[in-house]
Amino acid sequence: MSVKKVMIVGAGQMGSGIAQVFAQSGFQVILNDVTEDALNKGKASIEKILTKDVTKGKITEEDKSKALNNLSLSGNIADAASCDLVVEAIVENMDVKTKVFQELDRVTPPHAILASNTSSLPITEIAAVTNRPEKVIGMHFMNPVPVMKLVEIIRGLQTTDETYETVAETAERLNKTSVEVNDFPGFAANRILLPMINEAIYAVYEGVASPEDIDTVMKLGMNHPMGPLQLADFIGLDTCLYIMEVLHDGLGDSKYRPCPLLRKYVKAGWLGKKSGRGFYEYT
Ligand code: CAA
Ligand code: NAD
Repeated sequence: MSVKKVMIVGAGQMGSGIAQVFAQSGFQVILNDVTEDALNKGKASIEKILTKDVTKGKITEEDKSKALNNLSLSGNIADAASCDLVVEAIVENMDVKTKVFQELDRVTPPHAILASNTSSLPITEIAAVTNRPEKVIGMHFMNPVPVMKLVEIIRGLQTTDETYETVAETAERLNKTSVEVNDFPGFAANRILLPMINEAIYAVYEGVASPEDIDTVMKLGMNHPMGPLQLADFIGLDTCLYIMEVLHDGLGDSKYRPCPLLRKYVKAGWLGKKSGRGFYEYT
């Protein structure tokens, strides 16, 4: 199957970036969210990035118009009835995701592939709530989606080769490089990245150094483009906590224990850049 039309469920920072790269690559894209406000914010952020790219001479005004013409907004998930592929990018919570997958299974045509952009949740468990586990797969983009080249493709227990190959080919059409990963907590990317971020938070919690100095160590000492605390704010501290909980529960090793300071910040509503405050303040 060659994918032509996709729905992206969730118009937050990941969903809007995923919708943008699909639209720029010539796919017909429906961006879905539960509120009109989220849809308008998602579209505005895509327009802003495309406008910036035109100003920089990276794309033409015509490229921008073509991409925007390929994109439509919908508050009705039943519009996925016309899609070959759905990529879900809503909150990192199993109960909320499984409800959406049950609904998608009901409304999409039998040939449609249902993919999740989950950072860490088991694909096999998400697939099990549908009647098409062989067509359920992880398609894990990295943030910011238009910039980062990688897509982790995660096979659930029952994902078929045909589903995998269609998604790998789709990632290639998006000009991304994909890697094949099996269904383990945190997959590969976050199994490695999040313990480093969590350790940086422990270093702040225990008074090893200030957030600024810890980030400077990793930026200037290890050549990371962002320090781990700035990156945590950028990912979203709620998402970081969900991922650490999945690693801790799923792998059962105390080395994955989420730092109490991370829990405290999330409880306070300090979710990082998206809420205006995390390890740093944003205006
Ligand atoms: N959307 C689109 N483009 C963006 C962007 C965004 N949100 N943010 C930055 N860019 C573009 C800029 O426009 C700029 O483009 P040009 O080179 O054409 O000018 C380019 O990226 C570089 O941006 P800046 O010069 O403003 O800043 P920078 O050099 O510091 O780069 C960065 C920004 C690319 C985000 C860089 O800091 C970086 O790579 N950070 C680490 C990102 C990372 O680790 N991502 C993975 C997160 S983990 C994850 O995604 C998995 C998960 O499940 C949690
Ligand atoms: P976000 O909070 O920015 O956006 C989530 C969006 O989903 C919101 O707009 C919300 O209104 C919407 N939503 C919630 N329930 C919905 C529903 N039932 N139907 C439609 N829309 C719904 O979150 P995000 O950072 O974009 O993360 C989304 C997913 O991507 C998560 O699973 C996360 O783990 C994963 N992810 C995040 C990053 C990152 O760096 N933030 C990177 C890779 C993957």
